[in-house]
Amino acid sequence: MSSETMQAVILEKSEGGSSLVLRTVPCKQPGAGEVQVRLHAAALNRRDVWIRLGRYAGIKLPTILGSDGAGVVRAVGTGVSSDWVGKAVVINPSLNFGGNQDAQGDDYRILGMPDDGTYAESIVVPVGNVVEKPAHLDFAQAAALPLAGLTAYRALCVRGQLRPGQTVLIPGIGSGVSTMALMFAVHLGARVIVTSGSLDKLEEAKKLGASFGVSYRDADWDEQVSRFLGGALVDVVVDGAGADAWSKSLNLLRPGGRIVSYGATAGLAQIDLRKVFWKQLNILGSTMGSERDFAEMIALIRSGKLRPAVDQVIPLAEAARAHERMEHSQHMGKIVLRIHD
Ligand SMILES: NC(=O)c1ccc[n+]([C@@H]2O[C@H](COP(=O)([O-])OP(=O)(O)OC[C@H]3O[C@@H](n4cnc5c(N)ncnc54)[C@H](OP(=O)(O)O)[C@@H]3O)[C@@H](O)[C@H]2O)c1
Repeated sequence: MSSETMQAVILEKSEGGSSLVLRTVPCKQPGAGEVQVRLHAAALNRRDVWIRLGRYAGIKLPTILGSDGAGVVRAVGTGVSSDWVGKAVVINPSLNFGGNQDAQGDDYRILGMPDDGTYAESIVVPVGNVVEKPAHLDFAQAAALPLAGLTAYRALCVRGQLRPGQTVLIPGIGSGVSTMALMFAVHLGARVIVTSGSLDKLEEAKKLGASFGVSYRDADWDEQVSRFLGGALVDVVVDGAGADAWSKSLNLLRPGGRIVSYGATAGLAQIDLRKVFWKQLNILGSTMGSERDFAEMIALIRSGKLRPAVDQVIPLAEAARAHERMEHSQHMGKIVLRIHD
């Protein structure tokens, strides 16, 4: 990387939509309160794919996608301690969440559109959005962590209030967020039930600590879960799939249980409100997380020496191939882009 220019994967308009193209672009310098990070790795999120497909609000092109990144601080702007220079860091992609822990403020943004993201050799972010990389993680594992780890932590622990010994259902375990939720739930001593469209992913999830897995392609998957539980019910559902998963999840929840929604990959859900009020269920929404959530999530990763599930590490220049893999849900865990060794 020269001090003036860098390689970055740009999402730009093309015939019939938009495409990812490797280009040489100016390298941004840090302003007041900012740091410049030389990125070693970035990671994909479904959000990046939604943006490329034109299925996201407020799309601005051209742009550099990417919410997740880890690297080394190369330079600091005015007002930032030079002690940061040379430190290995992970980037918190939640920009301006604000001080209200209930929900983000009006000027909240997620790194990587409209602000340029991490599919690049370097990035400039506010110093408040970097934390030191947990020492037990390599750069690929560290880059896998931020967006999905933050989302899973808030959904499971802050909104879902999962406790040791409880049972949690995580639909669509191949998802980046789901694999993080599995990792946290197992670490907390909960029993984890998962679903997937892939039998291989169910096997993989069991290796990661899931107690039971079932294909959501089976029409009776909720009954299979119920049989496994001997008729018992689950305490918490953490769902990013939406659609059909919802009504079956509501069947499986215990009275007074919690269902936390953070996404709708499979589409919008129709729910039977009678189940909601009769069982006194708690329906909770969750999006990313606050600075406090991020700090707690990183602290848990450090104290538990937890390692996120990395699906594949693919060179930055092949970002389009990485997107194909995610678009077709071939991944289990996080797809990482290698930028510098
Ligand atoms: N609110 C937020 O802050 C936030 C943050 C992150 C993500 N999200 C949203 O949450 C969703 C997941 O994000 P991600 O990055 O983790 O995505 P991802 O890695 O692309 O995972 C998507 C997964 O959805 C699962 N799926 C598809 N159809 C399903 C169905 N009918 N029932 C159950 N699962 C199904 C698949 O699981 P299998 O492969 O196991 O079949 C697939 O791997 C996306 O919609 C994303 O936009 C929201």
